[in-house]
Amino acid sequence: MKLAPSLIAADMTAFGDALDLCASGGADLVHFDVMDGHFVPNLTIGVPVLEAVAKKTSLPVDVHLMVAQPERLLDEYLRAGAAWISVHWEAATHLDRLLQRIREAGARAGVALNPATPVELLEDVLNRLDYVVLMSVNPGFSGQTFIPYALDKARRLRRMIDDKGLSVDIEMDGGVGQGNIRQVVDAGVDICVTGSAAFGQEDPVTAMQELRRLAELSTSERNQS
Ligand code: DX5
Ligand code: ZN
Repeated sequence: MKLAPSLIAADMTAFGDALDLCASGGADLVHFDVMDGHFVPNLTIGVPVLEAVAKKTSLPVDVHLMVAQPERLLDEYLRAGAAWISVHWEAATHLDRLLQRIREAGARAGVALNPATPVELLEDVLNRLDYVVLMSVNPGFSGQTFIPYALDKARRLRRMIDDKGLSVDIEMDGGVGQGNIRQVVDAGVDICVTGSAAFGQEDPVTAMQELRRLAELSTSERNQS
């Protein structure tokens, strides 16, 4: 299981400290939520912050573009240091072309699905993808409650990927925490985004370590089954 703490749940006056916490907590990725105030009602962080973050951390930065017309912004985020970029299916008129552009730039290409968007829509583009972000909250804010039917979507997507013999990662994003991370991993998820379950805790490093411990209880069970 890969752990991807979401920066927008951290102390926004101290991103440097947040990145140190990610490193100490054993995070695998830094999840970077870009919100444009149009595709989602919130407005967060953009290219200048990404440039600073990418310079400061050795962890891959996983940019989640919650923006309208992502094709307009893609090159800026690639240049600014995004190692992974996901665009929303609901915002991408020419998804196939977008995914090719991301891969051509040497980044990992992802697509994000809002809760109500079925995974079956990805059937024909799975081989263009390195990962799929399944939203388990309606995008726009951290600290929301996990939407349980996202688990069934993960199970269906895992079957689609395995049936095609592909190695596409599944990322669960929103409301993941100690109370559900084992179910999330059991459903076939590879990457867990954790905002409030990591940075919203008294001791984020211990919280990240505990999240991984719980996830690995399930991973080991899954490998034995
Ligand atoms: C929501 C974002 C998520 C969110 C995760 O739109 O995409 O990454 O910040 O934060 P938690 O884990 O607190 O839901
Ligand atoms: Zn996100």
